Order: sequence, then C-alpha cells, then structure tokens
Amino acid sequence: MSALAGPGYAVIPDYAGARLVQSLLTSRLDRQRLGQFQAAGVGVGGRHAIRTDIRGDRIAWVDEPRAVAEAEFLADLDVLRLNLNRSLMVGLHDVQMHFASFAPGFGYVRHLDRSPGGLDRVVSVVYYLNTEWEPGDGGELQIETDAGPVLVSPRADTLVMFLSDRFIHAVLPALRERHSLTGWFHRRA
Ligand code: OGA
Ligand code: MN
Repeated sequence: MSALAGPGYAVIPDYAGARLVQSLLTSRLDRQRLGQFQAAGVGVGGRHAIRTDIRGDRIAWVDEPRAVAEAEFLADLDVLRLNLNRSLMVGLHDVQMHFASFAPGFGYVRHLDRSPGGLDRVVSVVYYLNTEWEPGDGGELQIETDAGPVLVSPRADTLVMFLSDRFIHAVLPALRERHSLTGWFHRRA
C-alpha cells in the first residue's frame, strides 16, 4: 500500500486468484439476468445524463452482496481500507462499488473521479474480470502521471488503485466486452 502514499497509484497484477474472478463473473451474470445493469450517467451542468460518447459502460451497484464472492471481495476491500487508513493517515469510512461492463468500441473519456466540490471519494479501486485478455484487445486504463501515461491492461485478477483527486484517467475502447468491479473509498463529506 506504500505505493499509494508515494506515486499515488498501485497496480497489483495477481490480486486474489482465478477462483474469485470466476465467482464474481457468475454473480455479474446473475445481476445481468435480473436486469440490474443500467447505462451509467455523467453529471452535465449539475444534471444527470446518459452520454455514451463520454462514458459507454453499463453498471450494477453492489449495495447488498448477493453472493459469497461479492461478500468476500467486499471484506478484502475493508481490510485494504484499514491498511490505507494507516498508510495514508486518512479516515476512510466505507467503500461503494459497482460492476461495470463496456460493450466493444465503448470507453470512458479522460476524467477525474472526484466531482468539483466533492470531497468524499479519496481512493478509486478497479478489479478486472477479463479472462484471456490479449494485448491487442485494447481496453486499457490510461492513467496520466507526471512521468507520462501509464497503461493498465484490464486482465482478470489485476487490481488498480489511485488517489481519486490526483489522476486524470480514461478507459480506451476495446475489441471485446470489458468487465470490472469499480469502487471508491470514501471519507465522510
Ligand atoms: C470509472 C473508471 C476505470 C476502468 O468507472 O470511473 O474510470 O478501468 N473506470 O474501468
Ligand atoms: Mn474513473
């Protein structure tokens, strides 16, 4: 976790293993069958709008874990939260997350995860669920750092974290459908 205190971002290629990925893909599919996925919106002029030219993912919030794997992942993130509180010396009090799926050809243009005036999102976390992802499939997360752009391939079991107010980032379009769990550690506003 010291990478977050230093460069402000961290990429962990083998976070939890293939079993968790498979179980999370199963619960993702369940939620899809239950019709829980909706087009993600953007705040335009203080209003909520669907703009697939800006962000093309469909999302399903995980408010209540409905599978063991989801509960397990949330518990892992909670351990992470306590570690972050120690290493960053912040008081993160919870994490919220959603599944996100981008259809081929869709991405998310450069943005910051923290809305103007919003102080609540401190650390962004993305866990990728794309098995057998090849470099040519695209869909990289592009993080803009002082040292230039860092590209993260959305390969299954890769976990990436970054300080929400520090890094402009984008999701590049992919050739295949691109699945992840994306979350934010909050502090009390
Ligand atoms: C987001 C986001 C990154 C990714 O949902 O805000 O930037 O790699 N996602 O999916
Ligand atoms: Mn983002």
